[in-house]
Amino acid sequence: MTETKTKTEHQYTCDVLIIGAGAAGLSLALKIADHSTVRVLSKGVLSEGSTYYAQGGVAAVFSDDDSTDSHFEDTLVAGAGLCDEEAVRFTVNNAKESMQWLIETGVNFDTEVNDQEETQYHLTREGGHSHRRILHAADATGREIEESLLTAVKKHPNITLMEGYNAIDLITTQKLNLPANRVLGAYVWNRTAEHVETINAHFVTLATGGASKVYQYTSNPDVSSGDGVALAWRSGCRVANMEFNQFHPTCLYHADAKNFLLTEALRGEGALLLRPDGTRFMPDFDERGELAPRDIVARAIDYEMKRLGVDCMYLDISHKPKDFIVKHFPTIYRRCLLLGLDIAHQPMPIVPAAHYTCGGVMIDHHGQTDIDGLYAIGEVTYTGLHGANRLASNSLLECIVYAHACAKDIINRIPFYKERKFAVIPDWDDSQVENSDEQVVIQHNWHELRLFMWDYVGIVRTDKRLQRALSRVELLQHEITEYYSNFKVGNNLLELRNLVQVAELIIKSAIQRKESRGLHYNLDYPEQSDNPKPTVLNPKKD
Ligand code: FAD
Ligand code: SIN
Repeated sequence: MTETKTKTEHQYTCDVLIIGAGAAGLSLALKIADHSTVRVLSKGVLSEGSTYYAQGGVAAVFSDDDSTDSHFEDTLVAGAGLCDEEAVRFTVNNAKESMQWLIETGVNFDTEVNDQEETQYHLTREGGHSHRRILHAADATGREIEESLLTAVKKHPNITLMEGYNAIDLITTQKLNLPANRVLGAYVWNRTAEHVETINAHFVTLATGGASKVYQYTSNPDVSSGDGVALAWRSGCRVANMEFNQFHPTCLYHADAKNFLLTEALRGEGALLLRPDGTRFMPDFDERGELAPRDIVARAIDYEMKRLGVDCMYLDISHKPKDFIVKHFPTIYRRCLLLGLDIAHQPMPIVPAAHYTCGGVMIDHHGQTDIDGLYAIGEVTYTGLHGANRLASNSLLECIVYAHACAKDIINRIPFYKERKFAVIPDWDDSQVENSDEQVVIQHNWHELRLFMWDYVGIVRTDKRLQRALSRVELLQHEITEYYSNFKVGNNLLELRNLVQVAELIIKSAIQRKESRGLHYNLDYPEQSDNPKPTVLNPKKD
């Protein structure tokens, strides 16, 4: 295996560098580690990523009443006419095998005993699914997946985990003025030692998760700052469908609850959405009521809040027996109780919040991006699976299915690279920059960006708001680039630089779409166009 620490203390080599330690990154690491040396980077603590916080579960056909055709159809309906049918078929067809791999790797999904006294997986239901098809571990499915994968990864001798390292930028032949465009590695910021290190790799995979932190209110953890999209874009990769930002309808509205989600499975198991006066409103918006796709529910909540001038709506499951609530939703029950809210007896105050980035780095069915040797998997990507709106619980599924497909491709190619020498990469040069004495600039820009993205590029958009957002983001881009050129890097600056890049891509994509579809709703173009296409942005042109 080619794995060395070379040249200086701050340069490493490996066969495959995986940036991100969520469901996507860890699954890929496990699949390829028998064939190659692997380094896996996480920005913060290893388990910190959206995967850990996933509640509802993973969609896959496990019931005899259900079929992959039905999963395919439900995904297309939620995707509002913009899914890539090949990607959808590929994902749903590989779903069961991927879940079986997770189970073999140690993931315990909830089971139940059926009428014939056989043990089977308990399948819950979520909006947009015509069948019960969500495998889950109570209401903490992501924690079960992340912890099981981490346990397995830590046992593998070929995998080196690098915790507390931010990938700053990819190193490519083009950036070094060498022929063609192939990835060579990445510059990474060691957060503990506070210096930049270099990793040379034959293959690099972005598994950095989403970008929902670009919005003021989000269900996502702090690491979701769109780094992978920004890194790929700066290196020359195309991105697609960045205007489709999914807002989860039900995040807990409470002063002491930062980013706490109330899973859609609550509605799947009968919870109702109520106005402050206790009346239901979803039947006025969609015949599927509380189980309509997420874009419709989030917009209905936003509409009612604005119409009534109130701060939140309510989600009520108190009509269900307490035992049922505690068994199926133990995490939510306990968390709410700690906040003084007994959900077995009272409704939960809720607001929508940015939850999932449907667009991202364009890849093929093996996760290969536009740059040779550079792959991307998981929420950072655009595969075409989600179209204009992701179907609930299809995201973790996409992480695993594409991690496996990517692994196959890398394993096939690895033998051709084993004996190749690594390119000589110049060390990071920060001799011309100094320590920042103006952290307040970063803080201010950070708040400004997230607030105008929420106000102007949120659930309901208009041309005027988008143009306003574009001029603001261009100013911020300019300021942050200047700041980045003059001062030493740190986490806040690195994330802000990426967020502002991603915000620009979201705004430009939203401006290009002259219709309302799925998650993109523009009051100036309320209708759907007849011939919808993905929005593709190309760094060479846009
Ligand atoms: P993540 O799990 O987000 O991991 C990203 C990793 O990249 C982290 O390790 C992070 O440290 C690392 N990283 C990022 N940038 C850098 C950088 N510059 N340098 C180094 N490392 C970096 N989906 C479902 O299908 N079902 C659900 O029930 C569900 N529930 C959800 C509930 C919540 C609260 C949230 C937030 C999301 C939920 N989702 C759900 C969505 C799903 O969890 C995510 O889409 C999925 O987990 C993304 O996995 P990932 O591996 O792509 O990224
Ligand atoms: C949830 O549990 O409601 C989140 C499911 C998802 O985002 O897919």
